[in-house]
Amino acid sequence: MKICLILGISGQDGSYLAEFLLEKEYKVVGIIRRHSVAENQTERIEHIRDKIDLHYGDLTDLSSLLKVCSQYQFDEVYNLGAMSNVGISFKEPLYTQDANFLGFIKLVEALQLTQNNFPRFYQASSSEMFGNCVDDDGFQRETTPMMPVSPYGISKLSAHTYAQHLRRAYNLPISCGILFNHESERRGTNFVTGKVAKAVAEIKLGLRDKLELGTLSTFRDWGHSKDYVAVMYQMLNECEPDDFICCTGITHSVEELCELAFSHLDLDYRDYVVITDKYKRDEELNYLRGCSDKLFNKINVSFEYDFEKMIKDMVMYHLSKLDWLKK
Ligand code: NAP
Ligand code: GDD
Repeated sequence: MKICLILGISGQDGSYLAEFLLEKEYKVVGIIRRHSVAENQTERIEHIRDKIDLHYGDLTDLSSLLKVCSQYQFDEVYNLGAMSNVGISFKEPLYTQDANFLGFIKLVEALQLTQNNFPRFYQASSSEMFGNCVDDDGFQRETTPMMPVSPYGISKLSAHTYAQHLRRAYNLPISCGILFNHESERRGTNFVTGKVAKAVAEIKLGLRDKLELGTLSTFRDWGHSKDYVAVMYQMLNECEPDDFICCTGITHSVEELCELAFSHLDLDYRDYVVITDKYKRDEELNYLRGCSDKLFNKINVSFEYDFEKMIKDMVMYHLSKLDWLKK
């Protein structure tokens, strides 16, 4: 039985990845943080809790990583743990570096000190690392310059650059997935898709009458988390360690997202959306549209979700959850 470690198992991607690897009959080990409301910490993994080994720990706490790593010999490690919210990273720049950059180094050190062989390692890099760099044809590729525009993007680029160094200097089998935005019913509601989907449901049920956003004019290449966790596994199991983009190649504006999400419940977003400085970023990434040719020429990929289906599912998820809560 193969053994894997997932940092960030309680998050959107970590929870789908745990399900995916259990299906493949892996022994799944995960690290969770302490939360004052214990149920909140494990909400996304409650249904598989009895099938996984969970340990308390934190990427900022080397000793906790050493304690967990010393109990196993891992075949694969997925570092999905991060302060992952770009907007909030402007408010918490030090913590963002601590968890996302230094946390990556701590995890690597813990593995080097405890594992007989360094496991295949997936590092969650991000399209946020590109900042506003775009190739002339309107796409971002692995070769596109990277100039991040947020503390989060800087922390991810620092870890990404360090991973490249570890690969070159010590031949460590680290693969960096440069994933573009991906969403799902499990997406936090402080990311724009989750926020819009929940607000549309609340407006439909008469629980609120407006939705405040920071901008409508930015563009993102949005895929589905469930589709992308399968690609993380393929990167480690079907490719040599390298950097790979995973994306849809299609871009939509936040305005298009709103139009679509509201229209699912026969609402017009223009009647409800209000733009406010409160959610405006100090520096903004305006446009993301990725090209996955490097990776998709190596592996077979067939995505189950497209943007329309994903957003509809997210709206319907929030509607049925709120409807149920009202009863
Ligand atoms: P998410 O839902 O925010 O999950 C992040 C996970 O990291 C949570 O389980 C969180 O635990 C954990 N975590 C946060 N700080 C930690 C720390 N100091 N020590 C240990 N664990 C910590 O994010 P996601 O959407 O699943 O994203 C997964 C990874 O992919 C992240 O690294 C993110 O930056 C990266 N990424 C995401 C996207 C995307 O669009 N989703 C795109 C590119 C890259 P708590 O539950 O305790 O907060
Ligand atoms: N969160 C949020 N809240 N975003 C808003 C809002 C709002 O009220 N109003 C407008 N937006 C805009 C943001 O300014 C941004 O341009 C866009 O919506 C998407 O924001 P998010 O959903 O927060 O995602 P992100 O692109 O900043 O970051 C996500 O994708 C990265 C990959 O590019 C996160 O998942 C990161 O962890 C990930 O690395």
